[in-house]
Amino acid sequence: MTKKLLKNIGELVTCSENKKNDDLGIINNAALIIENNIIKDFGKQDKLLNQIEIENYEIIDVNAKPVLPGFIDSHTHFIFSGYRDDEFNQRLRGKSYEEIMESGGGIVNTVKSTRKASFSKLKKLGNQRLNDMIQNGVTTVEGKSGYGLNLKTEIKQLKVMNQLNKEQSMDIITTFMGAHATPKQFSSTDNYTNYLITEMLPKVANKNLATFNDVFCDKGAFSIIQSKKIMKAAKNLGLDLKIHADEIKNTGAAELAAEMGAVSAEHLLKVSDKGIEKLINNNVKPVLLPITAFSLKEKYAPARKMIDMGLKPAVATDFNPGSCFSESIPLLLSLATLYMNMTPEEAIRGITINAAQALGKEAEIGSIEKGKKADLVILSAPSYTHLTYHIAHNSVKTVIKNGEFILNKN
Ligand code: NIG
Ligand code: FE
Repeated sequence: MTKKLLKNIGELVTCSENKKNDDLGIINNAALIIENNIIKDFGKQDKLLNQIEIENYEIIDVNAKPVLPGFIDSHTHFIFSGYRDDEFNQRLRGKSYEEIMESGGGIVNTVKSTRKASFSKLKKLGNQRLNDMIQNGVTTVEGKSGYGLNLKTEIKQLKVMNQLNKEQSMDIITTFMGAHATPKQFSSTDNYTNYLITEMLPKVANKNLATFNDVFCDKGAFSIIQSKKIMKAAKNLGLDLKIHADEIKNTGAAELAAEMGAVSAEHLLKVSDKGIEKLINNNVKPVLLPITAFSLKEKYAPARKMIDMGLKPAVATDFNPGSCFSESIPLLLSLATLYMNMTPEEAIRGITINAAQALGKEAEIGSIEKGKKADLVILSAPSYTHLTYHIAHNSVKTVIKNGEFILNKN
């Protein structure tokens, strides 16, 4: 049956776009209708049931539990081979992430093993990781390349994501991140920047493999001048822009994001007040990654200040093998609230509607509105407040993607 009725919804947490950032637009005692994989209607149960012929529907009794939009992990690097537990352990003994990068470790380490990995190995690993994300309630994920740093492997990573997008239930938004680090084969970042612009970007754009282009604009990565060149070239080829900004040092990357019309600026641990103002005035969405700050033992991004100044941040995992080996939505929400001083409502918006905006997908996903995809999460907890109150606990019971069950725990 293509028509489904979710009834006895204790809290329908709509995350409506038209509400304030700390208001989740909750409807108590609600029902929701799915038709042809989209949200057809929703509202107070008493009223909705009067308007339909109930025998035409497959009934799903939610038993007074909360229902939310499917979660969106808007920043990950989930296609890679090889692990960096040795580097993690070095950091536990006092080495910094920067020192590890400077001594030839870090991203380029993962590049070595990802270049060696076959398409099918990467696809298998990606598939396993997507399944873990679904357990966390994630129905859409953004994934970046950037562990190839040559045309062949960057394309391999992007093709793996595009293939998984077709085969898996999860929606995958792909980002080309050739500008993640300078590979060892190049004598300077300037030389690599030129290669990236002349050889890689046109071919990636031509094959239609990515929606976004991302640049790691920071000390020890790409300078403002190099980043600007890459962003300009990407934009001219029709890619939308993202940027890893002001993570390690404040280099004015948030300002560059604003100048270039980026859709989002991510990390922002060291962003300045001027940078925040520029993001506001140019409608650049911040994506904050507190598990990375936690894992690197760095100071968190100034989320409270950003929100008080008028921004609506997304929060995401940054799942990757180096700075943040975690896909945990429960941990993300715990850190966002306890250490970035976001309210539970702001944090939940960070993985739903604000995340959809950071991906330019707010017309389709991120909130419970008529006509959007029926991507839904049902919790085992009595209220959405348990997503943050029950610390680092996974309260996801059921996940519905495009109107179909993709997870249903007892
Ligand atoms: O977002 N900051 C740059 N890139 C990743 C780290 C990737 C890695 O260490 O492998 C990040 O944290
Ligand atoms: Fe990242």
